[in-house]
This record gives sequence, structure tokens and C-alpha cells, in this order.
Amino acid sequence: MDLAELADKAIHILRRGKGYLDHGSDGIIYTVTEEVVLKLHTGSHHGSPKRSAQYESELGVELYKKKVQVPQYLGLFGPAPLSHRENWGVFMQRINGLELSSLSTVLHLEAHRQYQEQRSLIEKLGYEVGDGKNMYTNTLFDPRQKKLFLFDLVRWKRL
Ligand SMILES: Nc1ncnc2c1ncn2[C@@H]1O[C@H](COP(=O)(O)OP(=O)(O)O)[C@@H](O)[C@H]1O
Ligand SMILES: [Mg+2]
Repeated sequence: MDLAELADKAIHILRRGKGYLDHGSDGIIYTVTEEVVLKLHTGSHHGSPKRSAQYESELGVELYKKKVQVPQYLGLFGPAPLSHRENWGVFMQRINGLELSSLSTVLHLEAHRQYQEQRSLIEKLGYEVGDGKNMYTNTLFDPRQKKLFLFDLVRWKRL
């Protein structure tokens, strides 16, 4: 599905009030397809939701290319013809993962190992993660791929 098709589908879903998956302080995540979610930006960390969406999208593409374990970022959404809600966001790969606190001991150890590895890589590449040193925040572990994902790049910085 290309970006225009994803945007049409997302608008349809949002207008019907469907697809809600989760949210945090900067955005709301909606399921668009089996493989794709939309993060609609609500926060103004970068001045406006539009700028947050642009920032996260840019950084996401950059980090994914550099093999950091972030979801694949697929492109910007917006401005969308939606009333009464934020209308900028970013499409990304949907992660089928578990929160780290719910993992078995063995998987938890593996998640921790990958977290440390990712933190070193991120630092080496010249970025700083936005949420301190807490591996339980903004992470999911896919037990099938045995792979940790880090996401929510709004507050990450290029050093
Ligand atoms: N690509 C994704 N696939 C599946 N779930 C996701 C994805 N991105 C975010 N989520 C879920 O949605 C929650 C909120 O997303 P997040 O990007 O952290 O928003 P916020 O910036 O508001 O904190 C996350 O904690 C996570 O559980
Ligand atoms: Mg978050």
C-alpha cells in the first residue's frame, strides 16, 4: 500500500472513530493495516504537532537506515481533512510486541542485552534517547523475532 492509499485508509478509520491502539503524552497510535500504524501527534514539544510529526519522521528514517532497532518509518500524514482533532502524524511499521515488564526471565535478559547494545549504538551514532535511561519506557519486545524495538523519537536529540 503506498502513502496515498494509507492516508485514505487512515482518514476513513479516524472519521469512523475506529482503530485506537494506544497513546502517550505526545501522540495517539491507530492501527491502519496489519502491518502499519499511524501516530497522530498531539504534543507541542517542537512547537506544534506538525513539527513533532516532521521531526519524528525525519529522525525515524535516519535511524532505521543506520540499523537502529526502531520501527520502519513510512512517511508523513497530514494535513488531514479532519475536524476537531490533530491532523498531522507519521506512518510506521506496526510492532507486535510485549512490554518488557511482562517478559519471562530469559526473554527479559535478552531484551536487556539488546537495550544495552542499542544504547551504545545510538550514542556512537551521535544521538540521545529522549526518555532517560529507563528501558521499560517506549520499548516493545517481539518474542517471535526475539527483537527489541525502541520508538517514540519525538524527544530524541541529535548531539
Ligand atoms: N509502531 C508501533 N507498533 C505498535 N505499537 C506502538 C507503535 N508505536 C507506539 N506503539 C504503542 O503506543 C504507545 C504510545 O506511542 P508513543 O510513540 O510512545 O507515543 P507518545 O509520544 O505519546 O508517548 C507506545 O507506548 C506503544 O505501546
Ligand atoms: Mg511514548
